[in-house]
This record gives sequence, C-alpha cells and structure tokens, in this order.
Amino acid sequence: MTTRFSSTLKPLVFCLGLLPLAYLLGQVYLVVNGQPSGMGADPAKTIVQFNGDWALRFMLLTLAVTPLRQLLGWVELARVRRMLGLFAFTYALAHFTTYLALILEFEFNELGTEILKRPYILVGFTALCGLVPLALTSNRLMMRLMKRRWRLLHQLVYPVAVLQLTHLFWLTRSDYAEPFIYSVVFLLLMGYRVFKWRQRRSKMGRAEVAS
Ligand code: HEM
Repeated sequence: MTTRFSSTLKPLVFCLGLLPLAYLLGQVYLVVNGQPSGMGADPAKTIVQFNGDWALRFMLLTLAVTPLRQLLGWVELARVRRMLGLFAFTYALAHFTTYLALILEFEFNELGTEILKRPYILVGFTALCGLVPLALTSNRLMMRLMKRRWRLLHQLVYPVAVLQLTHLFWLTRSDYAEPFIYSVVFLLLMGYRVFKWRQRRSKMGRAEVAS
C-alpha cells in the first residue's frame, strides 16, 4: 500500500502543483469572455498577486519537505522536493512575466524606474535571480558534477526565502496577516533545522570525548 502510494506521489504532486495554474487560466477565460469571475476590478493586478502568492507557498512547501520527512519518517517525501522547488521557481517566473506583460506592458525602461521608485521590486527581483541558479542546477547530473559545491550553492534557498518575505512585508500596506503567517511558518522550519544542527553537533562532541 505504502509502495503503491509512494509511486503515485510524484504524479499526484505534479497535478496538485498545476491546479493553481489551471484555476488561473479558467478565471482568465471567464474574464476574456466577459463572464463573472473571481478576478475583481483589476484582473491584471490579481493575476500578478496570485502568481506571487503561489511562488511563496511552493517555496515554503519545499522547505517543509526535510522536517516533515524526518518527523513523519516518510522517506519518499524527499523525491518531490525538487518538483516543489521547480514549481516555486515557475510561479515566481510567471509572477515576474505577468508583471512585465500586464502591468508594465513590456515597457522595459519602466522596470528601472519602478525599481528605483519601489525598492520592494528590487528585493523581489533579487530573490528571483537567486532562484535561477537553484533551478538550473536542480538535476541529478549537476548534483553529481558539483558534489560539495552543490550543497553549498543550494544553501542560497534560505536568503532567497528571506528576500521573498521581505518583498511581501515591504509591499503590504494594511493587512499583515498573510506575511505574518508565512513568516511564522518559515521561522518554524528554520528553528527545526537549527535544533537538528545543534543536536548533531553535541552528538559529535560527545563522540569525540568518548574516543
Ligand atoms: C521569487 C520571487 C518573488 C516572490 C516569491 C514574490 C511574491 C510576491 C507576493 C506573495 C506578493 C503579494 C501578493 C498579494 O498581495 O497577495 C507580491 C506582489 C508583488 N510583486 Fe512579487 N514576488 C517575487 C518577485 C517579484 C519580482 C521579480 C517582481 C518585479 C520585478 C515583483 C513584483 C511584485 C509586485 C509589483 C507586486 C504587487 C502587486 C500589486 O499588489 O499590485 N515580484 N509578490
């Protein structure tokens, strides 16, 4: 039973990862056809926000894989970490692309002006740039070729997540509930890692004393 579920885990996560996109396309279809939709008065803004939200959610899901795998003893979870990370990157790229297309209408000069006027855009852009090397080296071949450097490079995910949360806090004007919840989740996931790291260190220390 466990084995059968494990073999369906990847396709299941893949389909779940595409659900937000499918929902968004459905909503766009309704807007284009002049039918009532959940896109509000400013569909362009809603689309950009929707993609940004999912980019951050997938980032947190990616970071949750290791703690959940260890706490639940569910080894197979590790197999979907890469896919979740790639979804985080894809939605972030969609967020940036829809921002360029629907808000800036491909006026690339405007991007520079926007970055100067709104520093949170620079923070978001830096986060996106940080995701690029992670996505490009997320395959097994790069893992094998880069060896120790791969682990080191992929530590970049933590500052990138901090930048994403900073981006969100900075652009939020009134209701801080969502950024607050995401930050608590992030801090819990980081707290778990620090706890594990300290546990490992003290075990190593004890082993050294004993030998
Ligand atoms: C990995 C990178 C990024 C993540 C995770 C991210 C995430 C988010 C999130 C969660 C929001 C708030 C959505 C809401 O209000 O519900 C947002 C808004 C926004 N982001 Fe990003 N972002 C990223 C990169 C960028 C980049 C590269 C740009 C532009 C160059 C950008 C431009 C914006 C803008 C303009 C808004 C405000 C939209 C509005 O309310 O009018 N973001 N982003």
